[in-house]
Amino acid sequence: MPNLTVVGAQWGDEGKGKVVDYLARSAGVVARFQGGPNAGHTVCVDRNTFTFHQIPSAILSPKATCIIGCGCVIDPYVFEHELAVLRKKKISPGQRLVVDCRAHMILPYHQQLDRLRDEQSAKQRIGTTGRGIGPAYADKVNRTGIRAGDLLSEEVFNDKLKHNVAAANFLLMDRYKAEPISLKATAHEYWQATRRIARMIGDGSRMIEDALRRGERVMFEGAQGMHLDIDLGTYPYVTSSTTWAGGVAPGTGISPVWLEEVVGIAKAYTTRVGLGPFPTEMNDADAERLRALGHEYGATTGRPRRCGWFDAPVVRASVRHNKLQALVVTKLDVLDSLEEIKVCHAYRLEGREVGEFDPFHAAEFEPQYETMPGWREQISGCRTFAGLPLRARRYLAKLEELCDCPIALVSVGSERSQTIPFKSNKLRWLRQ
Ligand code: GDP
Ligand code: IMO
Ligand code: MG
Repeated sequence: MPNLTVVGAQWGDEGKGKVVDYLARSAGVVARFQGGPNAGHTVCVDRNTFTFHQIPSAILSPKATCIIGCGCVIDPYVFEHELAVLRKKKISPGQRLVVDCRAHMILPYHQQLDRLRDEQSAKQRIGTTGRGIGPAYADKVNRTGIRAGDLLSEEVFNDKLKHNVAAANFLLMDRYKAEPISLKATAHEYWQATRRIARMIGDGSRMIEDALRRGERVMFEGAQGMHLDIDLGTYPYVTSSTTWAGGVAPGTGISPVWLEEVVGIAKAYTTRVGLGPFPTEMNDADAERLRALGHEYGATTGRPRRCGWFDAPVVRASVRHNKLQALVVTKLDVLDSLEEIKVCHAYRLEGREVGEFDPFHAAEFEPQYETMPGWREQISGCRTFAGLPLRARRYLAKLEELCDCPIALVSVGSERSQTIPFKSNKLRWLRQ
């Protein structure tokens, strides 16, 4: 049976939530392998909209067991809120939701430190989501983190917390001149808030491997996007985890030898939230127009997303690093009303033409555009490739050619049903 990894091919918010939900209908297991509540994955089914930050986007598929892998960081308050939203809609994940015992916990001081650092040092500002991601991963790598498995013993938890609160208070008071936090109150509140999560803790790594051995269909859900990767992204304007397919093995605890197919999700244009280079960023008026058409406001923070034209060298770098077998192009319908659509096919750098994005030169790249005519028709009702206007098909063919990767699916709306299988679909996941 095939297994499939889904990654963002740009700077996040490509529509991974929608696509994971669509592809997961036939999955036995779906595991998130990195990130935490910095993610905002929107899923719309039958006019019900859910935004998942912490829980895998496949939770609406009744047959899928959803695992929060060991590479993730977890905010129990966000987790609880998501469960409550699901309960309101009469969805109760029960045994279908498992938290790997090795995943790291986000504590309130992580969020404080994240926000203070971003607010107070203009030079080092990244524009993070303020969800405590960087500090939580820093504790993990510093070997002082609190893991989900530590929530099974109050004594172990309290002992670790004591040391961590002392370290956090030193930073809060000494470096940021902020109020310290109370060990007693934090210990009590956090322990209470994690009693449900504690019952969901298991060995995610073993469960995924067992499913693979049984021949079940297993999916791996990425958060953020290739160019926000801690190693390969636009450092330091990145998140703190491995966002590309290379993160699946360490983020779930299975051998990379198991992995088969990787699909990259790309918007039909480009967006970015937070600071950092963005070669095809539009002028204010065009960006405003696209932002309104695509409702480009962050699903986690509500911040307006920066908008730009499709950047093929950016996606081409994702194709190469991940060895993508296919792309899913989302939000094609957002371009419906445009007279002309620009696509960046290459950059100019010091008189040379450069065909692939490279974070080291990102600020100097001058994007080279090809202009294509818009189709000026509504496509959100289309359900077949043949039903798309010729100009829309030409646009997609151009993206395939420039990114050197076939398209497997096209999304023309946020609803699960607004998804079109593409003519040249090469994914085993969709064929078997
Ligand atoms: P993710 O973080 O990659 O899961 O993406 P987000 O959920 O943050 O942002 C994508 C937004 O676009 C969400 O509001 C989706 O509901 C919406 N969306 C996804 N696919 C489409 C599409 O094909 N067309 C339109 N118009 N909206 C879409
Ligand atoms: P999804 O999964 C878009 C960005 C932040 C910031 C940088 C670091 O919904 O695609 P962090 O809080 O992770 O330390 O912030 O990364 N960022 C995202 N941008 N989509 C996301 O997630 C993001 N998660 C983090 O805006 O620039
Ligand atoms: Mg998002």
